[in-house]
Amino acid sequence: MHRIAVIPGDGIGPEIISEGRKVLDAVSEHYGFEIEWDEFDLGAERYLAQGELLTEEDLIALSRCRAIYFGAIGDERVKPGILEKGILLALRFHFDQYINLRPVKLLQGVCTPLAEKTSEDIDFIVVRENTEDFYVGIGSRFQGKEKKELEVIRELYYIKFGLDVESDAEEIAYQIGVISREGASRVIRYAFDLACQRRKKLTSVDKANVLTDIYGLWREVFTEEARAYPDVETEFNFVDAITMWFVKNPEWFDVVVTPNMFGDIITDLGAMIQGGLGLAPGGNINPSGTSMFEPIHGSAPKYRGLGVANPVATIWAGSLLLDQLGEHTAAAAILAAIERSILSGITTRDMGGNSTTSEVGDAVARFVTLS
Ligand code: IPM
Ligand code: MG
Repeated sequence: MHRIAVIPGDGIGPEIISEGRKVLDAVSEHYGFEIEWDEFDLGAERYLAQGELLTEEDLIALSRCRAIYFGAIGDERVKPGILEKGILLALRFHFDQYINLRPVKLLQGVCTPLAEKTSEDIDFIVVRENTEDFYVGIGSRFQGKEKKELEVIRELYYIKFGLDVESDAEEIAYQIGVISREGASRVIRYAFDLACQRRKKLTSVDKANVLTDIYGLWREVFTEEARAYPDVETEFNFVDAITMWFVKNPEWFDVVVTPNMFGDIITDLGAMIQGGLGLAPGGNINPSGTSMFEPIHGSAPKYRGLGVANPVATIWAGSLLLDQLGEHTAAAAILAAIERSILSGITTRDMGGNSTTSEVGDAVARFVTLS
């Protein structure tokens, strides 16, 4: 029996999550295990009605589950950043989900915008560091009316960074990225272990040619960890260059390990080359704690309630969830069923089809029981 917390969230979140649950329920029945769902109403509605984001009680209740199934958050009535930082990032940080696992795999029957590339060419996995870098939340803004702080900060810039900030600057803002040796090494080790189970190639992403301190440390840790894995072929890519290679030669990649912010950026590109945002799942993993699985896309409020949202990314995230819980056969069956339903032409309109969100969920749930 697995107890799974579910956070449908905002926008299309509830629709896609209900298809994901449909499939997980079908697969659990077919493979003989039980899922007990624990529902949470986190998101814009609760925030607007009660001013609450994520409470102490929520965290205690969530921590009783080894997995959280997450839809999407974000709502046009709430200023950008509030729900993202107050719920999604807060959960990733609270549960120390230091790995963000994002497969970039072109399924059979899916079109990629990359001419002449096939499912043989696009099959890699991005391991994004998930708790450090520019996501740590250290930053501030100073305006002209707070002249005193401006002075202080300008002084600090000068002393600490040798930077001569314009003395007539009316407003300045800064944000600091932090990487720790421990934080880098645990995610890099995870990526090496993953590469060992795959094609034994690991690519590290950074910008060590400009941001020499933060990514210099990342590179150093990568080099040190690599010594324990002599069978794994390794390489470094600068983040700007890797966006080029993802498009030109995706077949070069097997496992890609990246600091947090670059990982955010390159996985949207990854989603596109695997057929679109509607197809890209992600897992926020703490190998010894509570992990959380979600589509990497957002809440797409303009499609809410129309039945047009593609539930595949969420259903696939359900497969990653089962993998994490050790239900490997059932996890693989979900991915196979997604592929079968696409090959039988049951797709939403973003993929050129005309099926509804729930027709896709029904089809995948049916194929799962035929496996
Ligand atoms: C993602 C998203 C999030 C991120 C946002 C919504 C906070 O873009 O999961 O990729 O930046 O990590
Ligand atoms: Mg993103």
